[in-house]
Amino acid sequence: MLEDLQFLVNRQSYTVTCHPGTSLLSLLRQLGWFGVHRVCDAGDCGACTVWVNDTPIHSCIYPGMRIANQSVTTIEGLSQDGELAPMQQAFLAAQGFQCGFCTPGAIMSAAKLPKLSEEELHLALKGNLCRCTGYQAIVESIQEGRRQEARGRGAEGQGGRGAILNTQHSVRSCKEDLPPGKLR
Ligand code: FES
Ligand code: FES
Repeated sequence: MLEDLQFLVNRQSYTVTCHPGTSLLSLLRQLGWFGVHRVCDAGDCGACTVWVNDTPIHSCIYPGMRIANQSVTTIEGLSQDGELAPMQQAFLAAQGFQCGFCTPGAIMSAAKLPKLSEEELHLALKGNLCRCTGYQAIVESIQEGRRQEARGRGAEGQGGRGAILNTQHSVRSCKEDLPPGKLR
């Protein structure tokens, strides 16, 4: 059964008619947020990580229906006024990527991690798999991001929930018509 959802993505307002079997990952990509990457599509790799009300989740196994009246932030929503967030800048500066496929998800997870030791960071990244860079460069990027935040370009204003800064009211229909229970 199709249902109407209202929600925010990156501070933009949407109204979407959606099938219950559609994953949040599919929904976001249908809306044009292609920074959300599909890799394993099974909740294992973290490439699809986004925030729902500031909490990182794996969007490939998250039912799209659950974002009704919620706020979603993707990697595109981290930058503001054309300026990259500190954690994004840090991944560039410390070269925490190669192919970049895991990078949006890694940054979305990293930006919400508490202050951790290097050893703890390696453990904290177990939900974000990288097949090329190796985790040391990613850990160093996160540490660099922390230093940038400490220098005053903190995590405040990196997106997340809050005021609707740029409202576009969209009425869209989700294209997928999958059997109940099948998320894509
Ligand atoms: S694509 Fe979602 S966890 Fe891998
Ligand atoms: S940079 Fe290629 S998978 Fe991580």
